[in-house]
Parts: sequence; C-alpha cells; structure tokens
Amino acid sequence: SRSAAPFLPETPEKRSDLDELRSAASGCRGCGLYENATQTVFGEGSPAGRVMFVGEQPGDQEDRKGHPFVGPAGRILDRALEEAGIERGDVYVTNAVKHFKFKRREGGKRRIHEPPSAGEIRACRPWLLAELRAVDPDVVVTLGATAGKALLGPSFRVTKERGRLLSLPDEETPDARVVATIHPSAVLRAEDRDAVYAGFLDDLKVVASALR
Ligand code: URA
Repeated sequence: SRSAAPFLPETPEKRSDLDELRSAASGCRGCGLYENATQTVFGEGSPAGRVMFVGEQPGDQEDRKGHPFVGPAGRILDRALEEAGIERGDVYVTNAVKHFKFKRREGGKRRIHEPPSAGEIRACRPWLLAELRAVDPDVVVTLGATAGKALLGPSFRVTKERGRLLSLPDEETPDARVVATIHPSAVLRAEDRDAVYAGFLDDLKVVASALR
C-alpha cells in the first residue's frame, strides 16, 4: 500500500527539523492526491508550541494559498482560540492529510471537498507523526472524525470522546495528551451555529486549562 515514508528526510536530524520536513513534503507522491491538488499544505505555527491542532485536510483556499486553516474553518478556529485564551505563539496547526481531495460536478467549476480514504490517511501518517515528534506538544487537539481516527484509531467517535483529556494510544507517538473535538467547519454547516460553536469553545477551554 502507498505511503509517504520513502519521501521523509533520510537522517534522524532532518526528520526532526520542521523546515526539512516541510521541504521534503512538498515533493511527496506517497498517495495519489498530489496529482490534482495545487500543492502540499504542511503544518505551520510555533515549533515549540504546547498545543498541536490536527484538522482533516486542506480546503479549497488552503490548497491555493499553501497554508493550513486560512479559509472559513480557520476563521472559526481563530475566534475560538482567542476566546478560550490559547495564545497563537503556543500553537502549531496541521492536517491529517496534506493534500486537498476534491471532485467537480460534471461540467462544474467549483471544487467540492471529498473526505480522504482510510488508505490516504494511513499513507500520510508518517508526516503527522514526524510533526508530532518535532513539535512534541503537551496537548494534541483532533478536529473532527478524520484527525481523531488518524491518531486514536478506527473505532474513535467524536461524540463519545470529545472534550476530555485522553492520551495517545500508540508506542510510535510521543506521550502527549489528546483532546478530541468537532471540526470547526461543522459550526459553519450547523443549523444552530451558536450552540455548536459554544460546544467547540467548551472543548478548547478544556485544552486551555490543561496548559496551566
Ligand atoms: N479544514 C481542515 O481540516 N484543514 C484546513 O487546513 C482547512 C480546512
């Protein structure tokens, strides 16, 4: 099966350097998603951040601009960070999958987001694990089901696990705590936006209190 592993830098020193990782990831062909996406969107933020946020995959605007969470979902995340009292300088933001996956309706122009497959999430996981080791955060926040499954396993359910301090299960991951929550784009899609946002903010307050 396909994997990003052969595209990672060769030495352990380079594998723990975010700039080396970012530059190597720009040429990743570890799954098929590079073929239609504009570019790899690697994680960004504070290399020494105590909190690492993990989304699903770049969206349309992230794909064009090359930076994570710069579109509508990013604006929800920014607002909630501010309101929860989590400082930007304490944050690194990335995605479970580093390329935008989309389809177009027949004859259509608009690029419609498609969820990554389990195989694509698995193929991309070496980048996420390398970022985790390089940043070595105290708390990892999974945004939505894809990130939750990528780090907590296939039986992960957001509704059941959200808003509590969990730990990373696996021997290959550093021993950070994890808080799972919804994806900020769920706020944008919700009928009762205010209530869904309030729940998201409550989960981020759990993160903020774990940092004190
Ligand atoms: N949604 C994500 O999961 N990640 C982004 O970077 C943007 C939108």
